[in-house]
Amino acid sequence: MEDFHFPSQIKLLNEDNLRLDGRRLDELRPIKLEVGVLARADGSAYIEQGKSKILAAVYGPRELHPRHLAQPDEALLQCIYRMATFSVEERKSPAPSRRETELSKVITEALAPAVFLKYYPRASIDVYIQVIQADGGTRCSSITAASLALADAGIPLRDLVSAVAAGKIDGKIALDLSDLEDKNGQADLPVAIMPRKGLTTLLQMDGMMTREEFIEAYELAVKGCQKIYEMQREILIQKYIDIQSEASEEADEQENGG
Ligand code: CDP
Repeated sequence: MEDFHFPSQIKLLNEDNLRLDGRRLDELRPIKLEVGVLARADGSAYIEQGKSKILAAVYGPRELHPRHLAQPDEALLQCIYRMATFSVEERKSPAPSRRETELSKVITEALAPAVFLKYYPRASIDVYIQVIQADGGTRCSSITAASLALADAGIPLRDLVSAVAAGKIDGKIALDLSDLEDKNGQADLPVAIMPRKGLTTLLQMDGMMTREEFIEAYELAVKGCQKIYEMQREILIQKYIDIQSEASEEADEQENGG
């Protein structure tokens, strides 16, 4: 029989259950969010989650081409997930991969329930997602950023969508796995929710978990999503505070300057 060689397993937790980047099991990676980062898009957002860096740009609602794809009673939401050639360790071919096609579909389906698509029959709402640097969990970070970009575009939403994965590393349930943890862990469970509505819009699993572990991981991911939701809300509120203060500064200048 052929002798299989398994790569030596990396120890992902120390004796205090701290992870290689110093995080506790229930800790998110540091997250930075920005909205309105692209001048030519109708709405845009940027996310950094640990070492992952992703841009999302929304165009629309606009006329749909080719027209035969138009839906008579609602808009067509189309998300396109792409990774830059330099975003991963081993250069990614610029040709769209099967993984990118699958993730585009998964991300579209995670966002669609939050969008009032019926408001725009026959139209198209396009969301372009560009992964600039990937370090695990990019489908979830993409959903978080795309939902902010849709809000930034002024598209009516039932709720924001917040996403993060939980998983299993060295036999323990952990939140927001990095690429190294994903590759060397035992399971990964990406989750997206509409937090105010209490709806789950994405649930996938890769690897093996017991039923109890699955429930623990799902609950941990939902808690993580709720924390991300607070950050998303804050950044949107901040945007409107900034617009308001810019507008009142302009009004003051006009009044004083004549
Ligand atoms: O990114 P996400 O966890 O949603 O999806 P995945 O298919 O589980 O990929 C996990 C990670 O593998 C990505 O975030 C990248 O860091 C890495 N990857 C890579 O190194 N090269 C690729 N061609 C695709 C993914």
